[in-house]
Amino acid sequence: MTVAVRSVSRKKAQTPDPEELLAWYDRHARILPWRARRGEHADPYRVWLSEIMLQQTTVKAVGPYYVRFLSRWPTVAALAAARLDNVLRAWAGLGYYARARNLHACAKAVVEHHGGQFPSDVEALRGLPGIGDYTAAAVAAIAFDFPAVPVDGNVERVVSRLFIVEEELPAAKPVIRRLAASLLPKRRAGDFAQALMDLGATICSPKRPTCVLCPWEGACAAHARGEQETFPRKSPKAEGKLRSGAAFVALRADGRVLLRRRPEKGLLASMMEVPGSEWKHDFDRAHACHSAPRLGARARWRQLPGMVRHVFTHFPLELTVFVAHAQPATAAPKGARWVKIGDLADEALPSVMRKVLAHALNRR
Ligand code: ADE
Repeated sequence: MTVAVRSVSRKKAQTPDPEELLAWYDRHARILPWRARRGEHADPYRVWLSEIMLQQTTVKAVGPYYVRFLSRWPTVAALAAARLDNVLRAWAGLGYYARARNLHACAKAVVEHHGGQFPSDVEALRGLPGIGDYTAAAVAAIAFDFPAVPVDGNVERVVSRLFIVEEELPAAKPVIRRLAASLLPKRRAGDFAQALMDLGATICSPKRPTCVLCPWEGACAAHARGEQETFPRKSPKAEGKLRSGAAFVALRADGRVLLRRRPEKGLLASMMEVPGSEWKHDFDRAHACHSAPRLGARARWRQLPGMVRHVFTHFPLELTVFVAHAQPATAAPKGARWVKIGDLADEALPSVMRKVLAHALNRR
């Protein structure tokens, strides 16, 4: 296979030296709640917990969740013994709830199949629920100094610039992974992994990277050509197509709202929601009320002005919200239950449903 890595024509870049990156990291490492200080041993449970939380979420958003999880479930055994519903509730707001379910399943697997200790090599980690190539490499390197380089979007950017990888993402992933592995120093694999993450997150940013501060400025082939911002090359992304639907907020006169649990499989599996229609590309708003729950002859559904918008990884969603008021004795339809409005914070409600409820309750 031909690897599309162009040679440099203008200014010759030097070979990237991992020791230079490590020296930079020793001076500039970000202080993060899950990071072991110099000389301390990283706790595999903490490393794993942070890596799962950081999948598709920002460092800033994760901080408070990580601290809360750790104080509530300080060990993998404690997390394994937790009720899934409590874990989902504590996760609410971080999004991608399959990750929370896998987090719990993984804690149980570590306790049941590995004697409560995380395995230290990439292959064994890769066999645990919710641990893919990236997370396995990150945990192995950071927690055990196993020689692996985790490659996420930030690291892809750094490496594709260093070596001017002409091939477009996502096809370039295997090439970038090989080039990243070629940089691995003989020691300090964990620090090297975190140094790459920090470089990508702080200096080698997508727009206007601050190359003058970069320890690999002289080694960066894209910088030598003045083309750093044009890497990584990407194939044009197909935007997720808009889906629409209706959400029905039923309010009972005794201060309760009707909730039901989502199906066990699929998007937001097993989370709570207000009843609603399917979310479709060709949703027919005129017939939205056909999917409203039955609350007795006197309840009338009223459409609220405005819309609730939410963006999932693969598609944006617009929900039209309807509200109805039910008599105090109204029974919950099959599969649903009445929940006190004051107790909503304790329910495993995904962000989109919190938005729907806020939209409806603020307009009561
Ligand atoms: N992004 C993913 N994992 C990370 C980590 N361990 N530190 C900082 N940013 C990260």
